[in-house]
Amino acid sequence: MSKLVTIFGGSGFVGRYVARRMAKEGWRVRVAVRRPNEAIFVRPYGVVGQVEPILANIRDDDSVRAAIHGADAVVNCVGILAERGKNKFNLVQNHGAARVARIASEEGVSRLVHVSAIGADAKSDSTYAESKGDGEAAVLEAFPRAVILRPSIVFGPEDQFFNRFAGMTRFGPVLPGVGPDTRFQPVYVDDVAKAAVMGVQGAARPGVYELGGPDVHSFRELMQLMLQIIHRRRLIIGIPFWAAMIMGGVFDFLQAITLGVFHNGLLTRDQVRNLRRDNVVSDGRMGFAELGIEPIAMEAVLEDYLWRFRPGGQYAVAQASAKNLKGGSKRNSFSS
Ligand SMILES: NC(=O)c1ccc[n+]([C@@H]2O[C@H](COP(=O)([O-])OP(=O)(O)OC[C@H]3O[C@@H](n4cnc5c(N)ncnc54)[C@H](OP(=O)(O)O)[C@@H]3O)[C@@H](O)[C@H]2O)c1
Repeated sequence: MSKLVTIFGGSGFVGRYVARRMAKEGWRVRVAVRRPNEAIFVRPYGVVGQVEPILANIRDDDSVRAAIHGADAVVNCVGILAERGKNKFNLVQNHGAARVARIASEEGVSRLVHVSAIGADAKSDSTYAESKGDGEAAVLEAFPRAVILRPSIVFGPEDQFFNRFAGMTRFGPVLPGVGPDTRFQPVYVDDVAKAAVMGVQGAARPGVYELGGPDVHSFRELMQLMLQIIHRRRLIIGIPFWAAMIMGGVFDFLQAITLGVFHNGLLTRDQVRNLRRDNVVSDGRMGFAELGIEPIAMEAVLEDYLWRFRPGGQYAVAQASAKNLKGGSKRNSFSS
């Protein structure tokens, strides 16, 4: 009988790459999420019956126990960027993480991989980072041999970072961003998945790993790289933190007075607090080097999924070469 791994949040951006890799390794995979009906796309990652979405809410003991029962390993990929309904930072990223670790230990699970984030800090002024820090401490208390992964910003075809800003370029000549000088170390989603698989298979020493890609860039530099790839020119406007706090406050207020009917997926004050700090791997932390993984550079991947934001979409390259054939080779046909 092949081994069984339960992946909480296995339908999310990071979780689906972990699920795919675990299936390839021959494991049976339970993808534990609140809406398994929206996660059926994970089934073809394996042979019939190998990968199954099941219902579980990490805010609830019984469903977490049912999802973990019989599993050899557990990966927790549940996290939120903004609070929505009952999915509050503290309930999901602290108590939820603690619940998964406690029940995994009680159920005799051999290995636990917990996905946190760079900046996790129980003393942070950001509720997101504070809940991540508290969650890590609770995980280690319940499951001291856990492998904790802290990625920087994650990129890949389904990311909410490059796709979001590339989409914004369609609406006007300016590209606004909070904290243009804040530095990031973007990491490829499948490299994070590789690290998680090593944790599940016991090939990673227990402890905290900070995962960053090969390059560190400011937000402004990342936007410049993205614009170059999608062949567009936009004016990058840095929004000062004080102004961003006001904007975030207005959006948060709208969410509160509409009792969540308006969901603030734009900008929260908590996100602004996080954007004040660099999001890069700290010196002296374990990371990809200790795992023997060579992380992939953004340049090798971004073009594969950002081409659709080019002015001519999939025909952009053909259009450019046709223009050159007409003798306009000196014009820069790539900018719009
Ligand atoms: N993406 C990044 O750039 C990034 C950077 C640093 C760290 N991280 C961390 O990496 C992890 C994965 O992030 P992601 O980007 O993959 O997130 P994501 O795409 O939003 O996926 C979140 C997953 O969690 C599930 N989920 C949400 N609330 C749940 C609950 N209460 N109970 C059970 N399942 C729940 C979601 O499915 P349902 O909605 O169906 O339940 C979904 O499968 C998180 O811990 C995140 O903090 C991500």
